[in-house]
Amino acid sequence: MAKKIIFGSGKGGVGKSTLTAGIAASLTALGLNVLVIDFDVGMGCLDLILSADDTGIFNWGDVIDGACEPTAALRETLGPRLLVAPNSFSEEYTEQSVAELIKNYDDDYDYIMFDAPAGVSGGFLLAASCADSGIIVSTPDEVCVRVGNYAADKLFEAGLDDVRLVINRFSKRQTVRGRYLNIDEVIDATLLQLIGVVPEDRGLSYCSIAGLASLPPKSPGRRAFDRIAGRLEGRDVNLVI
Ligand SMILES: Nc1ncnc2c1ncn2[C@@H]1O[C@H](COP(=O)(O)OP(=O)(O)OP(=O)(O)O)[C@@H](O)[C@H]1O
Ligand SMILES: [Mg+2]
Repeated sequence: MAKKIIFGSGKGGVGKSTLTAGIAASLTALGLNVLVIDFDVGMGCLDLILSADDTGIFNWGDVIDGACEPTAALRETLGPRLLVAPNSFSEEYTEQSVAELIKNYDDDYDYIMFDAPAGVSGGFLLAASCADSGIIVSTPDEVCVRVGNYAADKLFEAGLDDVRLVINRFSKRQTVRGRYLNIDEVIDATLLQLIGVVPEDRGLSYCSIAGLASLPPKSPGRRAFDRIAGRLEGRDVNLVI
């Protein structure tokens, strides 16, 4: 059975999709079978970030609707496999139908990672209902931390007891200047277990244009993804270097 992880946040644009794709790619590089499912219905972008093959025409809604076989909706990427999101919501997309959808892939993957939309409704709740752990992504500022806590509470309410934190866009310089909270302050404000810190990396900001493949292997962002993937696998890896 696959480990199923939802990536969520309270605030939008904090890096959920970039981190889901990057950590999934690092897990794939470790030799694991990873499936990423885009739950940002109508606003999915993981096919771009992961440079998915452009031959696929189906999304996971088509599998639920019976318009295609489960394997026909899978897209190849440079790293993990991908199921893209439908363009709009349908009343057919329920916790039950999404659970049935996931069952089709459960035995074939080590990890199934859900990229949730910002906030705590729609695709977030569907993904939460079939995840067994969660990662809250937060930038080190008070607004993001506060609403990230709200999203974490919703994951606990959905029955998840393993919800961890990634601090994204960390910048020592901005922290020293007092513009960002420091790492301890973010941990204290969330009370979540920290699984990684991803630095501000200009290379990462180009990923939404050029795809993750444009990120150099030794870049700070790529190395942070590798560390988080190692920690998910239970390896003894430093949080920050
Ligand atoms: N560590 C980082 N350093 C620099 N840029 C980053 C970093 N993380 C993310 N970004 C950039 O921030 C922007 C938003 O990232 P992304 O789309 O992953 O956020 P999101 O949380 O998925 O957004 P949404 O809530 O809209 O789904 C993108 O342009 C991305 O390249
Ligand atoms: Mg996103």
